Amino acid sequence: MVVLVTGGNGQLGQALQSVVGNYPSIDFVFCNSSELDITNLEQCRAVFYQFKPNFCINTAAYTAVDKAESEPEIAFDINTNGAENLAIICKEFDTILLHISTDFVFDAYFVNGKAFYDRELRLPLKSELGLLETDVPFPSGVYGLTKLQGEQVIQNIWQKHVIIRTSWVYSEFANNFMKTMLRLASERDSLSIVSDQIGTPTYAVDLANALLKIIMYCNDESIEETHYGIYNFSNEGQCSWFEFAVEIFAQKGISIDLKPIPTSAYPTPAKRPKYSVLDKSKIKKEFHIEIKNWKESLTTCLGKI
Ligand SMILES: NC(=O)c1ccc[n+]([C@@H]2O[C@H](COP(=O)([O-])OP(=O)(O)OC[C@H]3O[C@@H](n4cnc5c(N)ncnc54)[C@H](OP(=O)(O)O)[C@@H]3O)[C@@H](O)[C@H]2O)c1
Repeated sequence: MVVLVTGGNGQLGQALQSVVGNYPSIDFVFCNSSELDITNLEQCRAVFYQFKPNFCINTAAYTAVDKAESEPEIAFDINTNGAENLAIICKEFDTILLHISTDFVFDAYFVNGKAFYDRELRLPLKSELGLLETDVPFPSGVYGLTKLQGEQVIQNIWQKHVIIRTSWVYSEFANNFMKTMLRLASERDSLSIVSDQIGTPTYAVDLANALLKIIMYCNDESIEETHYGIYNFSNEGQCSWFEFAVEIFAQKGISIDLKPIPTSAYPTPAKRPKYSVLDKSKIKKEFHIEIKNWKESLTTCLGKI
């Protein structure tokens, strides 16, 4: 079985590289952005022709959420056109496409302590456990919009897809919130962290293992039918960015003055969802995936730093 990974040098790409030893039956092909530029259809076709992958994991994306507001064409080219190219090529080669999307397709918020999932429709969450795959997406920024459009082009072009929406990804690899906190703690005595955005951190290595478990499941001939479509994945539990930072420093034994602040005190070019906890019932049921609490996975990750 051949699994081709796009964006091989990104955070999730590196997390996937770190677990390949656990999957000896898979031949992995990791491509960085120069070896496989997903915006280049002909290059995609040539790489697929060379390796003939059974599965493609698309981790490649334009992920600079704030910068996307000032360069929407580039974000659109990578997150939407790139996804479209991969769907076209996966269909040509009968390759199952696993594509990563984001909680930023939602613009969920709180009113009187109750989570609502859409600012325009003003609908309350259907699930106590968070946002469902069937909740109506409503991105509030360019990044979220281009990622949503990426989901839609895949759904329209190639039926054999598994789209995973995830949130707040961190790891020992690349840049992320956890590593930024550790760096800032070595430079400053106090930090102000947003405390009114609620979500769930996702350890990239847990996501990598979930993706490979899905692939093993799809490849299992004893399974009668694979249910393609959209699935949520993050770690279990929920917290604010402030609580995430508190836990990072507590687990690391770092003493620092942390101040909770509202989003309004930390303005950014792109708006963030106020609430983006994802309900994972569907992925757990369909692919028998067990998910760790975010604090437990944070301990694992910090142990590797
Ligand atoms: N990080 C998060 O908190 C988060 C949250 C929710 C969802 N996600 C989604 O999770 C996925 C993985 O994110 P990540 O954290 O691993 O992001 P990342 O570290 O920014 O990695 C993205 C990778 O995509 C590559 N790339 C950019 N343009 C490309 C192109 N045209 N062709 C091929 N590769 C290209 C980049 O390569 P270069 O560096 O060479 O440009 C980079 O290696 C993305 O789909 C992202 O939208 C992330």
